Amino acid sequence: MIFVANWKMQLGVAESVSLVRKMTVTLRQAQGDNDKHEIVICPSFVALEGVGRVIKASTMRLGAQDCAWAEKGALTGEASPRELAEIGCRYVIIGHSERRQNFGETDAVVAKKVRVAIAAGLTPIVCVEKSSQVVAVARLGRIIIAYEPIGAIGTGRAASTSQSAKVLAEIKKKFKGPVLYGGSVTGTNMRGFLNVGFVGALVGGASLDPEEFIRIVTA
Ligand code: PGA
Repeated sequence: MIFVANWKMQLGVAESVSLVRKMTVTLRQAQGDNDKHEIVICPSFVALEGVGRVIKASTMRLGAQDCAWAEKGALTGEASPRELAEIGCRYVIIGHSERRQNFGETDAVVAKKVRVAIAAGLTPIVCVEKSSQVVAVARLGRIIIAYEPIGAIGTGRAASTSQSAKVLAEIKKKFKGPVLYGGSVTGTNMRGFLNVGFVGALVGGASLDPEEFIRIVTA
């Protein structure tokens, strides 16, 4: 199972480091040393190095929340996937609905980012709101898909498991790799999504609370 914590732009650097320290302790207590799940922590760009230092000795992995669509170039303000890999990222979230809505990212831009991320050795976690968006990225290489219905993100109203299962079936016709569910995931509703075939979750709000996040991981 794969559980991705997306901290968005909710924390400062010191807060991120302190939260990941708490998570390491809580996780160890909950799982012991032989944890079987892939846990990916995605802090803001600025907090990546600090968080990376803390999780280096643990089984948690580092992920970025976005990356540039090129390895290098005149792209002021962007973060290259190559640099992200260099500072220890293994994963990168691409095409989150907040990027699509607020920064105009299209399926074509998402596909471009996925290509360079894979070339840099990162595993893209590509967010889609509908199954048709999978087509643009399904054959670009080893990726993870996160199904994130817009109305469920940050609202406290997760999608129903039956509706999500339908979209999952559609996605699976186009894509053979792992598919996560995302959108108001909690320790209480996680099991339902795993039961219908999702192999983990992309977690926003609940990942800011170590106890709740561990409840999700151990669901
Ligand atoms: P949420 O966010 O868990 O707070 O709904 C999910 C996401 O944005 O990926």
